[in-house]
Amino acid sequence: MKKRWMVLLAVVLVGLVLYCCQNADKGEPLPDLVLRYADNQPEGYPTTLAAQYFAQLVEERTEGRIRIRVYCDGELGSEVSVLEQLRFGGIDMARLSSAILEGEYEDFSVLTLPYLYENDEHMRRVLEGPVGQRFLIQRSSSGLLGMSWYDAGARSFYTREPIGGLEDLQGKHIRVQESEMMSRMMVLLGAVPEKMSYEQVYSALLTGTVDGAENNLPSYVSTGHSQAAGYFFADEHSRLPEMQLVSTYAMDRIAQVDGGFPALILQCARESAAYERTLWEEQVNASREECLRQGVTIIEPTDEQQEAFRAAVQPLYDELSVSGKALVAEIGTYWVEN
Ligand code: GCU
Repeated sequence: MKKRWMVLLAVVLVGLVLYCCQNADKGEPLPDLVLRYADNQPEGYPTTLAAQYFAQLVEERTEGRIRIRVYCDGELGSEVSVLEQLRFGGIDMARLSSAILEGEYEDFSVLTLPYLYENDEHMRRVLEGPVGQRFLIQRSSSGLLGMSWYDAGARSFYTREPIGGLEDLQGKHIRVQESEMMSRMMVLLGAVPEKMSYEQVYSALLTGTVDGAENNLPSYVSTGHSQAAGYFFADEHSRLPEMQLVSTYAMDRIAQVDGGFPALILQCARESAAYERTLWEEQVNASREECLRQGVTIIEPTDEQQEAFRAAVQPLYDELSVSGKALVAEIGTYWVEN
């Protein structure tokens, strides 16, 4: 009797081992390493499509040894919580807005200054040049490594009631990301900054907890904010690049599987960034059309209004450290007027 049980147990164990060695869907061997990647944008958004492309490249080029699971729509938490989990190895990789990363590197917040880049092209040159690469090759204060830069265009204000210029922002409660730079900017513009996570903004707009927020057009539309705050003031005050990051723990595990520095992973991340950029441009155009379809009022600021905004945030530049000012000057050299 005892022997029969032993045989049965052995059969079950062998079955389990065989099952674990197979990918149930594809009949392929299981990967050596499965990594978790977080993005707070929904399925189909440029950053998540590019993240999925990144995962596909990695899986193909490591011949299935490394698999990256992309969790989108904030499934793994808000950006602040994802950053915390990256620091402690709970999440392996993520795409985060640079506003959230201001404490990770010295002078990083300089990259998020309003009116720092003259246009998208200027920002891209900076990120692809020595400044952007410098931040990618150094480990952050908590050991994270930036893998690539993703594009997130320009951010503008949108409100429940129309705004025609700086005077209409005075005393308005405007949602900002959980960032000191963004809060300070809002105070200088005369508004009341309301820090909250991306996921909380829609209901705050609906209930009137905030009078408005600011973001790029694809985010404005894909979150439904365009239906809760139908006035888009296209002032393009900030361009916040986004970073794909990997935790120090994941890097060590990748190195064990891949036998060395994970250059292959970084290469895939950079190729996915180039893909994201093409998707981004298409998405901006599609979002603009969607705004028109929804009856959003897009207000183009005059040159005087733009000047008033720029002048109001000048203290952010005056308050910079010596190295911060040097970085601003260096970034300025990448602006080439067409
Ligand atoms: C953009 C960005 C997000 C960020 C959001 C925000 O949409 O892509 O990563 O969370 O701005 O305003 O919080």
